[in-house]
Amino acid sequence: MDNTIFITFGTRPEAIKMAPVVLELQRRGAFRVVTCLTGQHREMLHQVVDDFALPVDHDLNIMRERQSLGHITSAVLSGLDPLLEETRPDLVMVHGDTTTTFAAALASYYRMIPVAHVEAGLRTHNIYSPYPEEMNRRLADRLAEVHYAPTGAACTALIGEGVRRGQILVTGNTVIDALLMAASGEAPAWELQVRQALDRPGPKVLVTVHRRESWGTPMERVAQAIKRVCEENPETTFIFPIHLNPAVRSTFRRALDTVSQVVFTEPLPYRHFVHMMKAVDIVITDSGGIQEEAPTLGKPVLVMRDTTERPEGIEAGTARLVGTDGDTIARELLLLLTDSASYERMANAINPYGDGRAAERIADHLEHRFGLRDHAPGDFAETAGDPDFSPT
Ligand code: UD1
Ligand code: UDP
Repeated sequence: MDNTIFITFGTRPEAIKMAPVVLELQRRGAFRVVTCLTGQHREMLHQVVDDFALPVDHDLNIMRERQSLGHITSAVLSGLDPLLEETRPDLVMVHGDTTTTFAAALASYYRMIPVAHVEAGLRTHNIYSPYPEEMNRRLADRLAEVHYAPTGAACTALIGEGVRRGQILVTGNTVIDALLMAASGEAPAWELQVRQALDRPGPKVLVTVHRRESWGTPMERVAQAIKRVCEENPETTFIFPIHLNPAVRSTFRRALDTVSQVVFTEPLPYRHFVHMMKAVDIVITDSGGIQEEAPTLGKPVLVMRDTTERPEGIEAGTARLVGTDGDTIARELLLLLTDSASYERMANAINPYGDGRAAERIADHLEHRFGLRDHAPGDFAETAGDPDFSPT
């Protein structure tokens, strides 16, 4: 075990999507694996670490209440630099598009350590939507030497930006690996309040909202749309595991605390959340990862954003981009709740995002890169017949 792979992540979705990679590399034992949490998130990150029993070697523990992007970036840079100097890894792995992702890639570049970017190449082509994720992932891709692109479209985007084909492997998204692990087996034991919400008659809608560009007025419009749907469709129950960000909590609590059809919960552990997606009828969200998971589970998903870097679900008809205009959200949601044909058209289980073997391809690729395996793995997009994929 001569080679050291340094894996860093800081938020809930990065941990969920990096977990299959950490576990696969740990299982194979071909590398010394060092994990470092930046701690951009705290409780929500540790929930995932516990869920997957991930090994943690370092925790920079940088989170502050209502933190600024400047704080996250500078704290990750100054926290990682001495660790990279001490550990001297052969490769640093980062995931996705958070500020942890970008700052960790930059810290590694400063130390001239090659970076591998998992979930490379997602693009909306609008640097303020989602903000700051579109810029974070573009910058991480500029800094990275190895790109693990989830889909053919992501691979094409990278090539369009001048990345060489030989630097890209299309792996499928590791979120599908994580989802399949979490979805197997019985539903977990629910807390009383959640079980009572699920036992109510009538349709169930699962809600999550957190994007920075939606803080304030757009979130207030989302809350008003939910309120309107509650009035027009009194049978419907909304289950809302609310993000720990105070900017998100204050808006929704103020607007919806007295609406009995809305049941707030704390952020759910990943396995619980996956089984919750299976249990509900509709998902409304601005999340990136949930846009990939809900279609896999055959749940219609209304995406409360103006843009998406995940067009595959939209093209397949399982996801619909509805923005943050209150009237549009209410109209689209009421349509799904009242028109069974519309609902059935969207309730298709599709799997354009992965086949559950992304971590295996990544581990194979790393072994090949470090001379431990003869052949490089093939692209997921090729085996999946992805229409957006061109092999050369
Ligand atoms: C971050 C990422 C976003 C990702 C999201 C996943 C950035 C800029 N944003 O957004 O890309 O989609 O995570 O959820 O990288 N907080 C807690 N405990 C926690 C987590 C957050 O109290 O475990 C509170 C803190 O007050 C913190 C605030 O939430 O300051 C915001 O956290 P931050 O990571 O800056 O932004 P997110 O909206 O979570
Ligand atoms: N998730 C979770 N518990 C929750 C809400 C979400 O485990 O209460 C999971 C969800 O299944 C998905 C990920 O967290 O895998 C999405 O995280 P988030 O929406 O915070 O970030 P994004 O994907 O938008 O970056």
